Amino acid sequence: MEARRASVLMHPPLSSSRADPEVVRASDRPWGAAVTHTVGVAPPSVRHTTGKPYPWQRIGIPVEVVPACASLYGLAPLEREPVDGTAASARNVPLPCGNHVWQSSSMTARAADRARYDRATAHLDAPLAIVDLDAFDSNADDLLRRAGGKPIRVASKSVRCRALLERVLAREGFQGIMSFTLAESLWLARSGFEDVLLAYPSADHEAFAELTGDPKLAAAVTVMVDDPAQLQLIDNSRRGGTEVVRVCLELDTSLKLLGGRVRVGALRSPLRSPAQVADMARAVAGRPGFKLVGIMAYEGHIAGVGDSVAGRPLRSRAVRLMQATAKKELAARRAEVVRAVRVVAPDLEFVNGGGTGSVQHTAAEDSVTEIGAGSGLYVPRLFDNYTSFSGRPAALFAMPVVRRPGVGVVTVLGGGYPASGAPGRDRLPVPYLPEGLRYDPQEGPGEVQTPLLGAPADDLLLGDKVWFRHAKAGELCERFDVLHLVEGGEVTATVPTYRGEGHTFL
Ligand SMILES: Cc1ncc(COP(=O)(O)O)c(C=O)c1O
Repeated sequence: MEARRASVLMHPPLSSSRADPEVVRASDRPWGAAVTHTVGVAPPSVRHTTGKPYPWQRIGIPVEVVPACASLYGLAPLEREPVDGTAASARNVPLPCGNHVWQSSSMTARAADRARYDRATAHLDAPLAIVDLDAFDSNADDLLRRAGGKPIRVASKSVRCRALLERVLAREGFQGIMSFTLAESLWLARSGFEDVLLAYPSADHEAFAELTGDPKLAAAVTVMVDDPAQLQLIDNSRRGGTEVVRVCLELDTSLKLLGGRVRVGALRSPLRSPAQVADMARAVAGRPGFKLVGIMAYEGHIAGVGDSVAGRPLRSRAVRLMQATAKKELAARRAEVVRAVRVVAPDLEFVNGGGTGSVQHTAAEDSVTEIGAGSGLYVPRLFDNYTSFSGRPAALFAMPVVRRPGVGVVTVLGGGYPASGAPGRDRLPVPYLPEGLRYDPQEGPGEVQTPLLGAPADDLLLGDKVWFRHAKAGELCERFDVLHLVEGGEVTATVPTYRGEGHTFL
């Protein structure tokens, strides 16, 4: 079988921020082949039957080189019989890819998604990562609905793909980026994103030198501080740069109980009381070369902790109780802090709060002017356990079956992509499709291979894809150079992640 090489389109360097939502459409922008992918010659059974061109045809790959959906669900295409006769409830719906695979009325939504993803990526070998744009867009709609009219600043760490940042920022209601390093912020500002809030303090002298020496960067990027020493570090980095640095103050949102003996929430800013934040505001306002423009208060213990964990009713109740108490305490304190800071800086531009898990609660506070959120676009597994919202998993990765050690077990390549945070099972990716696979408790997801147990294993053949969900959103992109964007049953574009553009900021 002769191997042929076909190009996979890459996103080019972007020039403007939110101008063109079509920018991710491979069919419209033949930008040259930055990476190549080898595909085998398809058996003659694979033919284009719907009349609609497949994406690989639109980008110039003749249909003959697209491999069959090799063993969709355990059988070679021609062996699979349509469901009929005795299966009275079955509604035979041929999938539009032309394969002899049938969707019955009893097929779960998840199984239908699997068929769609397998079909869309049949011409691609795993490992690979996809973003289901239908799910991504519907998650974006849901975030907007929950924000109730307040703008959402997109957390770039939870997306890590410029094409998808552009896509979401092209929508009304999403406004600005919440970035995670200063180098990233400068890179984004240089590529046309005009409103970048760096949500974490930086000690990057080189990047501060660039920021303070370039009016365009200084106008686009706002940096986070909670300590006068950080202002000094910026001044020490200036190398003659005289641009005014836009500054946001971060407030500690944690809940303190029992007179401060118990603290719930992340250890972030030392600024807690209205008086402390106002003092810091005065330190910024009184210092030449700085302008105080915003306040940020991220309540991670509310926004990032699921309150409805399956099989853990007591923990879930305790979390709900904690969050109800924390919301009340923070709403009152945040309002006081904002009042105190506005006395020092009456033209404050924004008060940012919240995250994916708290959008509607945070948006309901009058003192908050915008919400920060990103994970709710990809909806990784850590965001499954909330009573207040449920999204559609949009970002998945696929690993190939490479061996079959025995009955009820298959082994896929790699798969060990744990997420950051306090170590625990909830940081592991989950095998998602086909449904019903689980890890071998002795091995878990491995560095180079992952055995998967369960009845569905017996329907999987070598080369079949097992689809996983990452525990967190953007970290997935540190494992893959490109994301294949799936619309309906097709890959309509392939766009680079930050990593694919040569950037690992953290
Ligand atoms: C400052 C800040 N705001 C908001 C968020 C929420 O982001 P996401 O919606 O991706 O969880 C985070 C996440 O860590 C954050 O650090």
